[in-house]
Formats: sequence, C-alpha cells, structure tokens
Amino acid sequence: MPLSDYTAALVTGASSGIGLAVAQRLLGQGLTVHAVARRRDRLEALSANGDCVIHAVDIRDGAAVAAAFGALEIDILINAAGIGQKRVGLHELSAGQIDDVFETNVLGATRVLRAVLPGMVHRRRGHVVNIGSITGLHATPGSVYGASKAAIHMLSQDLRLEVQGTGIRVSEICPGGTRSEFHALAREIEQGEIERTMYSYSVLTPDDVTDAIVYVLDAPARVDVTLLELMSTEQVMGGNTMVRREPTPE
Ligand SMILES: NC(=O)c1ccc[n+]([C@@H]2O[C@H](COP(=O)([O-])OP(=O)(O)OC[C@H]3O[C@@H](n4cnc5c(N)ncnc54)[C@H](OP(=O)(O)O)[C@@H]3O)[C@@H](O)[C@H]2O)c1
Repeated sequence: MPLSDYTAALVTGASSGIGLAVAQRLLGQGLTVHAVARRRDRLEALSANGDCVIHAVDIRDGAAVAAAFGALEIDILINAAGIGQKRVGLHELSAGQIDDVFETNVLGATRVLRAVLPGMVHRRRGHVVNIGSITGLHATPGSVYGASKAAIHMLSQDLRLEVQGTGIRVSEICPGGTRSEFHALAREIEQGEIERTMYSYSVLTPDDVTDAIVYVLDAPARVDVTLLELMSTEQVMGGNTMVRREPTPE
C-alpha cells in the first residue's frame, strides 16, 4: 500500500532523533500524525508542522498507553521510542537501569502494539514499523540493550505470522549508530563529548533512517520489507578478536 493511501500514523519517540524525523516526514506528506513522547514541549514544537495530535505519554505506563491509543484508527505504527544502556557490562548495571531498558524498549513497544493492533486487524489494514537495532541481530558489548532489541526482532518475526492474512505488514528496521540524543543520554555524558568521539565518524542520520522507513511504507501492498539493516559505511559488525585474560586484582 503506497504511503499516499495511508491516513493516520502513530509515532513513538517523536520528540527526538529517528522518531522526530519520521514524524516530520509523515506530516510533510499530509498524514495525521499522533506524536508520542514524554516531553510535551518538544511535541508542541513538532505539532506546528502539520496535522499533529500530541500525546505526552510514558510508554512504560500500560494503563496510560491503553487509554490514549486504544480507540485511535491508526494505519501506520512507528515504534521508535527507546533508550540505550550505560556503557558498562551487565555486572555493573543497577537493577533500575536494567528494568528501564526492558520496560521501555520491550514492554513499552509491546503495549503500544497491543493498543493499536486490534483496530488494524479489524480494518484489515495497517503497517507496523518496529525500530530494532543491529545490536539485536549481532553481538555487541551491551547485553541488556542487545537483548531488548533481540526481543523486538522476535516480536516482529512472530507478529508477522499472527497477522498473516489480514493485509497488515510488519517491518523491522535495524539501524547502526545514528546521530541523536540516544548515546549521550545512555552514557550519561554531554552531547558535545559524543560529537567529538562517536559522531566524528560518518554515522547515520535520523534522515537516513527515515528514508529507509519511507521506502518500506511506500512499497506496493504486495511487498512487505520484513527486515532492513542499515549502518554507516564506516561501521562493520563482526570480527575475530583475542583479548588476554586480565590478572586477578590484588
Ligand atoms: N541512535 C542510534 O544509534 C540507534 C541505533 C539503532 C537503533 N536505535 C533505536 O532507534 C530508536 C530511536 O532512537 P534515537 O536514536 O532516535 O534516540 P533519541 O534521540 O534518544 O530518541 C528517543 C525517543 O524515545 C522517547 N522515549 C524514551 N523513553 C520513553 C518513554 N518511557 N515513553 C515515551 N517515549 C520515550 C524519547 O522521548 P522523551 O524523552 O521525550 O520521552 C525520544 O523521543 C530507539 O528505539 C533506539 O533503540 C537507535
């Protein structure tokens, strides 16, 4: 179903980064966009760009999600809200940091789907775009975040089977490193430090990811782009490194 046949989209994470870029693009295409994030002021700024309905909702709050989105008629769901993990191993993360990642990236995304999907199934019409990550498909030193995105991978794979025959398409977009607020927030450092380090490489931009999402949405109805992985040319997954065992601390 080409993008022009869709009427209404719900975009989570619409206050920043990838979600914001997608919301802006869809508003520009004339769609009604239900923009979701916690920072209302950011959503209000976005809403000046077109037919935008703002929802200042924390997607970790299941009751709030069901109440806000359960009755909406949504053609496109962009599940983009997400957080990263601090740049330390699982053994150094606090229980709260671990819970936050799963509650946002897995439970939050699942709850938004649960609210929106019954209407899509009833109308035999809809497109779910889950923003996964290359870290859900490849090993990286970020086990909690990686596990949350691996959950999004299987959620997408299994959901496609559950809605087979309804005409609903389920696409998983897996970006590599993308310039946004994400890394500075996760690492609890200044944005400027990320600019000087990680973003000194030619990382993806939210617009690059949005181009991929629009391609997926705009494909003919017979085509479901099920899984799309994209990353900076300067970033490659995999490798084969050896690291010497460290001496036991005194
Ligand atoms: N940046 C990357 O390198 C990268 C790579 C691969 C995949 N991804 C994935 O891409 C998606 C978007 O990330 P991004 O890079 O655009 O990050 P970002 O700039 O930090 O944006 C994250 C968005 O999620 C929203 N959000 C976070 N927690 C929320 C909650 N509890 N309830 C509602 N909204 C919440 C934030 O809004 P509020 O703070 O206003 O609530 C913000 O709009 C995420 O799922 C991320 O895992 C990112």
